[in-house]
Amino acid sequence: MPDAPTSDVLVLFGATGDLASKMIYPGVYRLARTGRFDGPVVGVASSEWTVDDLRTRIRESVLAHDPDCDRSLLDALAGRTAYVSGDYRDPSTFDRLSEVLRGHQRPIFYLAIPPALFDDVVQGLGRVGLNAGGRVVVEKPFGRDLPSARELNRCLHEVFPEDAVFRIDHYLGKEAVENLLVFRFANELFEPVWNRHHVSSVQLTMAESFGVEGRARFYETAGALRDVVQNHLLQLVALLAGEAPIGPGADLLADEKVRIFRQMRPVAPHEVVRGQYRGYVDEPGVTPGSDTETFVALRLWIDSNRWSGVPFLLRTGKNLAATATEAVVEFRVPPRAWWSPAGTTSLAPNRLRFRLGRGDGVTLQLQAKAPGDRIVTRQVDLDVSFQRVFGDRQGAYQRLLDDAIHGERIRFGRQDALEEQWRVVEPVLEDHAPVVLYRRGTWGPEEAARLMPEGTSWLEPIVDHGEPAAGRPGERGAEAAPG
Ligand code: BG6
Repeated sequence: MPDAPTSDVLVLFGATGDLASKMIYPGVYRLARTGRFDGPVVGVASSEWTVDDLRTRIRESVLAHDPDCDRSLLDALAGRTAYVSGDYRDPSTFDRLSEVLRGHQRPIFYLAIPPALFDDVVQGLGRVGLNAGGRVVVEKPFGRDLPSARELNRCLHEVFPEDAVFRIDHYLGKEAVENLLVFRFANELFEPVWNRHHVSSVQLTMAESFGVEGRARFYETAGALRDVVQNHLLQLVALLAGEAPIGPGADLLADEKVRIFRQMRPVAPHEVVRGQYRGYVDEPGVTPGSDTETFVALRLWIDSNRWSGVPFLLRTGKNLAATATEAVVEFRVPPRAWWSPAGTTSLAPNRLRFRLGRGDGVTLQLQAKAPGDRIVTRQVDLDVSFQRVFGDRQGAYQRLLDDAIHGERIRFGRQDALEEQWRVVEPVLEDHAPVVLYRRGTWGPEEAARLMPEGTSWLEPIVDHGEPAAGRPGERGAEAAPG
C-alpha cells in the first residue's frame, strides 16, 4: 500500500485550553525535534488572544514539560504559529481560517474542544470546503451514549470520509498499553494459561491522587464512567482478553476488538458502585447537589469460551490514595501444598501485574521457599521496569499526533468498536444508585469490596517500580511444618 500523505498544517481547535497546553504543544515540539513534523500550527479558539499570546502559551507549555528543550527549535515552532479567534458557531470564523490556510492542501484538524461543539466545527469546516484533503482528530469521549455516538459519526461522515477520521483514546498511544498484545502473543509461556481454567480474576485499577483540577464543567457532563471507563478501561480489557489479530494492520486489530467487545455482557446496575469524593460539590463549576461519580467500581463478564465465569473487576477514581494504572491477572492456586498437613495452609496466588502508568513495567509474583529448616513460602517478584530497560519513550500524545499526521490508523478507535463499548456501559449510564461519598486519599467507598469474589479484595496497585503498595492481609506466605 502506498504511504498515506503527510498533513501539511496542524489546526488546533481549543488552542487556549488545558489539553492543548498540557499535551498537544509538548507533543508538537517533540515531533519537530525528531523531524517528524515541522509544518505550521494554527490555533483556533473563542478567546480574544493575539498570536503573541498563543506563542507565549506554547513556549510556557513546552518549557514546563521539557525544561532543557532546544530554544531555537522552540522559537522556530512558535514562529510558525498563527491564531484565529472566533465563535465556532459563527461562519465568519471559518472564512478567516480558510484565508489563513490558503495554499495548504492537507490540513489536519484537531478538535481539543468539548464534544458538544464537534458538530458545529465539522459543519463549519465543510461549509468552506476545508474538509477536502483534510483529516480530523476527535478527542474522547466519542458521544455520551450509543445514540449520540452514532449521531456524531453521521455528522463527521457528512463532511469527512472514514479514512480521514481519527478517534482518539490516548491510552492506545501508551507504549505499556500497546505492549499488552505483544507480551501476550510473543511469549508462548502465557498463552496456555490465559483462560478460565487458570485465571481466577482480572483486576484493573486506574487511580489518580488528584481531583478534577479545574475541569469540573466537563466532568459534570461525563463522570468517571464516560470519562475513562467506556474508553480507556474497556480498551485495556479488550487487549487483555481479546484474541490475536489474524495479521498486522489497523482493521484486523479493530476486528478483534469488536469481537471481544461483542462478547462482553452489558454491565448490570447491581454490579456497579459509584462514589464521589467529599468536597467535589464545592469545586467551581459543579452543580449543587451533583450526583456525578468521581469513582466507579464494576464487575464485568465476558461470555466467551476463554473467559466465561472469570470476573473482570474494574475501578477508577479521582482523589484516591495514589496515582497508578495497573492490570492484575490473578491465577488459581494449586489444590494442595504437599508439605502441609491437609488444611493447614493456603497458598497465595501467582499474579501477573502490568503497570501501565508512571513507572510502567511488569511484575510476576511467584511463591518461593523462604530460607530455613521449615517449609515456608514467601512471595518473590520477577520484575521489569520498562524505563530501566528501554529508557525514555515517546509520550502517548506525541505518538498519536505523529500517527494522525502521517495517516497511520492502528492506534485509533473504529466506530463499530466504539459503539460496542457504549453498549457495554449503556445500562448503567443513567440507571444507578446514588453516589456514595468517600474521603480523599482513600481507595474509594468501602462498598466497592462487595464486588469482589469471596475471600479476595481489591489489590493496591504497585506504585513505584517493584514496590507493592501493600499486599493482602496474610499474604506474606504460607507456612507449615515439614510433613
Ligand atoms: C483522560 C481523562 O482521558 O485521562 C482524565 O479525561 C484523566 O480525567 C486522564 O485524568 C488520565 O490519563 P493518564 O494518561 O494520565 O492516565
